[in-house]
Amino acid sequence: MSNNGFILWFTGLSGAGKSTLAESLTPILRERGTKIEVLDGDVVRTNLSKGLGFSKEDRDTNITRIGFVANLLARNGCGAITAAISPYAAVRDECRQMCDATFVEVFVEAPLEVVEERDTKGLYKKARSGEIKNFTGVSDPYEAPTNAEIVVHTGTESIEESTNKILSYLEGKGLVAKAGAAAN
Ligand code: ADX
Repeated sequence: MSNNGFILWFTGLSGAGKSTLAESLTPILRERGTKIEVLDGDVVRTNLSKGLGFSKEDRDTNITRIGFVANLLARNGCGAITAAISPYAAVRDECRQMCDATFVEVFVEAPLEVVEERDTKGLYKKARSGEIKNFTGVSDPYEAPTNAEIVVHTGTESIEESTNKILSYLEGKGLVAKAGAAAN
């Protein structure tokens, strides 16, 4: 089971809960014997994608890099969780095509009003005032997936509910051992 790599590809607006879900899933998956690495947009932008901005071209480059590394991990038996907005459907699909392991797209859905109300990093306020340009959902596009394997609604579900939804899917596909099953 632990050689069964996969990419869990989160996509959603800033503040929708991608990183939070990645964080909540990681220890559970590790406990079940799955190797996990997280490629978080904010973190990747401080190293692998340092210097890139938020034009379509730079976002596409960022996402392609994340997809490339996630694939290297996944094809070597690791579960790779990516948590970047990844706003453009075409590049997400390219990453899906590039993937030599199982690709699971997770739409982390929350209405703009909800993420804007949360405004965890204070960026929506800056986007509305024009201090930040090309902000996803406000002044830049977000193309919601139409063929995601999993959709979680973080505006109405608890973190635990969304986490369990994803876990059940992975269990059902045999990508993760069920709770209580001996890890191999
Ligand atoms: S992506 O579009 O290339 O997938 P990524 O997930 O790496 O984006 O980075 C998004 C994070 O960068 C946001 O959560 C936010 O903290 C920050 N950010 C800064 N400027 C922008 C912007 N113009 N649009 C979206 N996010 C931005």
